[in-house]
Amino acid sequence: MVKKIKLGVMLSGRGTNFQALLDACLNPNFPAEIGLVVSNQINAPGLVRAKSSNIPSVSIPHQNYSNRRLFEDEITSKLRDAKVELVCLAGFMRILTSHFVDEWHNKIINIHPSLLPAFKGLNTHERVLSEGVRISGCSVHYVRAEVDTGPIIIQAAVPVLPTDNPKTLSERILLAEHECYPLAVELIANGNATIQNNTVILSGNFNCSNNLINPLKIKK
Ligand code: GAR
Repeated sequence: MVKKIKLGVMLSGRGTNFQALLDACLNPNFPAEIGLVVSNQINAPGLVRAKSSNIPSVSIPHQNYSNRRLFEDEITSKLRDAKVELVCLAGFMRILTSHFVDEWHNKIINIHPSLLPAFKGLNTHERVLSEGVRISGCSVHYVRAEVDTGPIIIQAAVPVLPTDNPKTLSERILLAEHECYPLAVELIANGNATIQNNTVILSGNFNCSNNLINPLKIKK
């Protein structure tokens, strides 16, 4: 049986990236399982997804805490209780302090809907369109204290079409996100994405010759 690392997923909204991870985890050969879903929004649709799939979940409303440190320490405590080994930010829309990020150093990853380091932050697709960018995409990266920074694990390039609006572009990029996030988790869980000099070194045999997802997939 394949060894599975335990994931903690942090989300604030609809949770389609969580769903993509969950779907991947249903494969017995996928080297990860979801131990806990944490949301800062009690009504996040992602929590409903977790409940309907019998995945343990907890809501930790940030407004119940007098400061970020207390809020984040509660999250860490719940993740530790669930024996989480890798934290996956999946549309978690609260800025995390360096205290939290350092606590999970190299054990926390994020997905962002642009080709980082371009278009960090909010309203990504609106800014991509107003800049007239022709290729956008998504990035999965290790998390550092500065927002949307950290060693990049995997990216996918997605065309921006002349007819796009933020909704159509985000939908196209979201499809790539759903492919990239499980692949990044797989790379990490298998020890094939290690950090050297603040960049990710990928190992194993993977093929990235004919697809705009880099890397396309690992050959077993
Ligand atoms: C995704 O597009 C993700 O890349 C983005 O939020 C969305 C969450 O969707 N994350 C960020 O912008 C983080 N900077 P989901 O809830 O359906 O997974």
